[in-house]
Amino acid sequence: MTAIHQYCSLLVTITIQLIITIIVKPTLVAGRFQPSQWTLAHATFYGDETASATMGGACGYGNLFVNGYGTDTAALSSTLFNNGYACGTCYQIKCVQSSACNNVPYTTVTATNLCPPNWSEASDNGGWCNPPRSHFDMSKPAFMKIAQWKAGIVPIMYRRVPCARSAGLRFSFQGNRYWLLVYVMNVGGGGDIANMWVKGSRTGWISMSHNWGASYQAFATLRGQTLSFKITSYTTKETIVAWNVAPSNWGAGLTYSTHANFL
Ligand SMILES: *[C@@H]1O[C@H](CO)[C@@H](O)[C@H](O)[C@H]1NC(C)=O
Repeated sequence: MTAIHQYCSLLVTITIQLIITIIVKPTLVAGRFQPSQWTLAHATFYGDETASATMGGACGYGNLFVNGYGTDTAALSSTLFNNGYACGTCYQIKCVQSSACNNVPYTTVTATNLCPPNWSEASDNGGWCNPPRSHFDMSKPAFMKIAQWKAGIVPIMYRRVPCARSAGLRFSFQGNRYWLLVYVMNVGGGGDIANMWVKGSRTGWISMSHNWGASYQAFATLRGQTLSFKITSYTTKETIVAWNVAPSNWGAGLTYSTHANFL
């Protein structure tokens, strides 16, 4: 009797867990960034093997070694760059249909720069980044992972993937006593940002506007206050809060780390 009772309650438990898994799991997954379809495009490279030319790109990440991106980076054509909203997004790129392809499945890069159009060159002959082309101008070390650099340009398949970041968001401050400009780095999940708010210890949430690249600004006097940030992902619309990111004696030119991040 007891055994049957235990068996029944076990069945009930398993059934309830199954129902919870079925109901809850998709809602959890819905907020997460899902990889996109593989799409055909082309890739070139810029700079040399030191990747020094990739530093200080249009996303405003500055030194990519210091800020964790290293050499696994690419400049996106304006079609993909989306006015800087694509800064921090991650892509798997594989070389296809070329004898210059290396025998590797793919490499993963983060968008850290804009590849601007060059209207004096045709889009199929040098003006690779001209709209409406989707194009990846990779760092030379990243390009050399998937293809022989002498090829110059290779066909690729690419897809957007979640950004796997160790540790949390990083906030790099610029500005003055009336204006706070914040570069957001090391963004996980979709990697991108749609909206951002700042809260001083004596203010409510203040909406920040997009400045350029991965930077957001608030015209407010926040000196002497502990600062928290609220961030909404561009792709998944998920919002997270990073509390007490910077102490009350925060300063321009400094970078603050947090534990908060998108998954
Ligand atoms: C654009 O293309 C022209 C013609 O090839 C070249 O001379 C020029 O340097 C290019 N401009 C930039 C900004 O790369």
